[in-house]
Amino acid sequence: MKKDQARIGFKSNLGAIAALAGSAVGLGNIWKFPYIAGTNGGGAFLLVYIFFILLIGFPVMLAEFTLGRRSQQNAFGTFRFLAPGTKWFLFGALSIIAATLILSFYGTVSGWTLEYVWLSLTNSFEGTNAQEVNAIYTDFISHPYKALLWHIGFMAITAGIIMGGVQKGIERYSKIMMPLLFIIIIALCINSMSLPGSTQGLKFLFFPEFSKLTANGILAALGQAFFSLSLGMGTLLTYASYISKRDNLMNISLKVITTDTLVAVLAGIAILPAVFSFGIDPQAGPGLVFITLPQVFQQLPLGELWAVSFFILLTFAGLTSAISMLEVPVAYLVEEKNMKRTTATGLLATVITIIGGFNTLSFGPLRNVQILGMNIFDACDYLCSNILLPIGGILICVFAGWYLDKAIILHEMSNEGSLKIRFFKVYILILKYIAPACILLIFLNIFGVIK
Ligand code: PHE
Repeated sequence: MKKDQARIGFKSNLGAIAALAGSAVGLGNIWKFPYIAGTNGGGAFLLVYIFFILLIGFPVMLAEFTLGRRSQQNAFGTFRFLAPGTKWFLFGALSIIAATLILSFYGTVSGWTLEYVWLSLTNSFEGTNAQEVNAIYTDFISHPYKALLWHIGFMAITAGIIMGGVQKGIERYSKIMMPLLFIIIIALCINSMSLPGSTQGLKFLFFPEFSKLTANGILAALGQAFFSLSLGMGTLLTYASYISKRDNLMNISLKVITTDTLVAVLAGIAILPAVFSFGIDPQAGPGLVFITLPQVFQQLPLGELWAVSFFILLTFAGLTSAISMLEVPVAYLVEEKNMKRTTATGLLATVITIIGGFNTLSFGPLRNVQILGMNIFDACDYLCSNILLPIGGILICVFAGWYLDKAIILHEMSNEGSLKIRFFKVYILILKYIAPACILLIFLNIFGVIK
């Protein structure tokens, strides 16, 4: 960006919240959360999850907001600006790489959701049995190019929105998609709860079975909190750089974490009672959404409509998260390399789609390519979710809690002293010790150092 050009930020407070909540609410809330909550003790998991969201997610999010809005720059520029003459800019570079890589596999699954919108629209699940639904899924993901085409399509839409810019792209579309997402999910919840035998699903989700909550489950809750809130990846920091100086950061973060948690719980209510009502075993991960749910939908009255709605919901959730990831490297190229937004977006979307192409094809033609015993997709997911994300989280805590002058943080959080900030000392204490220690625990657990 030319230095004399004014930087465009979010137009309204509501727009900022829609965009930030859009980044947080994603595939993580809808296909991942209901299953892990259910298998890790339901209500017990939920309690631990909410505890982590408040104790760690909230302070780390607020730290990212504070840094981004303070600098009014991209992730790379933020660290160079706040820590001049140090190597902290490398952390900015790491965030950019992490966001790019996450998008490369996130785009794969989001591409699948588009195919499922299409399959539902063309009523392809009608009259199929469990095995056939399973076959539709496996044939599709292993097809030599079908998934690739949807992947390219999804990335093109993502790039199209980002090319529109902060206000006319990100803010505008988040303000359209987020309310629609809410309407769809609430309709799905009502429908799911009205089915006979649905209480069993609610019990699976909410009844606190503390005996089922293991140490692994507790760490899964922490990892999920991080992924779900989009922490440690430069996305919140980049979006925060567009928040108006008048907005209350604390307030916005509370709204974002509330929305994110609410959508995760609503997704559980939309999915699990329906699954139980038909006596289907709730399956793990992608299977729950792409194999189990189509079976459920086709047994419902107006099943086609529910299926279309659900997969549109999933697509919106994926899209509002994907744009937040793409914005991280785009903002970097525009501001640091003086590239035009459209050029930067086109270039990055192409590169990410190519990397993502390998992820997409790793279920089909490239399925035999193994990295440390995983296919390309799983290896990429593992690297991002289990390594880059926790590192990003710890570095944010260290930067804001230890390196940066606390007066700067207080100034920014309080809008130069005009807002009263309570519990600031406790906040810093969490950032300095508690949050990094907890993240370190997830890390050590992932590597089997502690079990
Ligand atoms: N929070 C998103 C989800 O739950 C994923 C995400 C991670 C988005 C990191 C942006 C950055 O699906």
